[in-house]
Amino acid sequence: MPSRLDERRNLANVTEEAWRPPLHITPDTRLHRSLSAVRRCFDLQAASIWRDLSGELPGVSGLVLDVGCGAQPYRQLIGSSSDYLGIDTVNARPDFGYELPDTIYFEGGTWPVADGSVDVVLCTETLEHVLEPATLLDEAHRSLRPGGRLILTVPFAARWHFIPHDYWRYTPSGLYNLLRAAGFREVCVYARGNAGTVACYKLMALALPFLLPSSGGVRARLLQLLALLTLPFVFALALIGRATLHGKGGDDCLGYTATALRP
Ligand SMILES: C[S@@+](CC[C@H](N)C(=O)[O-])C[C@H]1O[C@@H](n2cnc3c(N)ncnc32)[C@H](O)[C@@H]1O
Repeated sequence: MPSRLDERRNLANVTEEAWRPPLHITPDTRLHRSLSAVRRCFDLQAASIWRDLSGELPGVSGLVLDVGCGAQPYRQLIGSSSDYLGIDTVNARPDFGYELPDTIYFEGGTWPVADGSVDVVLCTETLEHVLEPATLLDEAHRSLRPGGRLILTVPFAARWHFIPHDYWRYTPSGLYNLLRAAGFREVCVYARGNAGTVACYKLMALALPFLLPSSGGVRARLLQLLALLTLPFVFALALIGRATLHGKGGDDCLGYTATALRP
């Protein structure tokens, strides 16, 4: 008897995604900063991370190490009393499409910084892309000075992205245990948004591949024109979604922001 599973696609060996949203732009000029701000009106993940980090980063002092920095989308939140260092893996370009002149690219699992030399480790939307998350957290612990702080964000209700380099979704208890095992203390985990935010985000995600098609074919262009009709709906969802970010956060959410101290 044929298995029901045979009717479905086996995803175990998939190596490409059908559609990928535009990469973050490095906000290095006024124009790019404006474009990033426009993106955050519609990208509820980025908006929720920005919202959390804008309460944390402007006040920090010392060296901020942004690991897996990609396009460095949150760099501008760092105040003038801090120095910024962005590092990323050498696979950032082939696997993710990110390559910046002022990023240090490293090979293997060891970061190019001395023990205890960093005041804050920032790690946004990266831990889900690391096959061995404990290794990254050990490096964060090694790099931080005693009393130094880790600020980490991970997605929860997000599609499988940067396929196949997207390995995990973490829960608050999973993050707590991973961070404690790496030697961190005073671990806090906060939800970004609630079920309402997730509903808005997922409904917007239905329209996005049509509004921003990856191919330029005639069919894609026609569907894009049709998808323009959904724009008022997308605007409304973006507004409602952003409003839900003001709550306490729920058991369902877009993702988590965690903070932890190196004792
Ligand atoms: C989704 S992007 C996030 C980029 C950026 N932090 C942001 O918030 O937009 C994931 C990043 O993780 C990086 N990455 C993947 N594996 C890594 C590893 N083992 N160590 C450090 N960074 C890694 C990728 O190169 C990529 O820049």
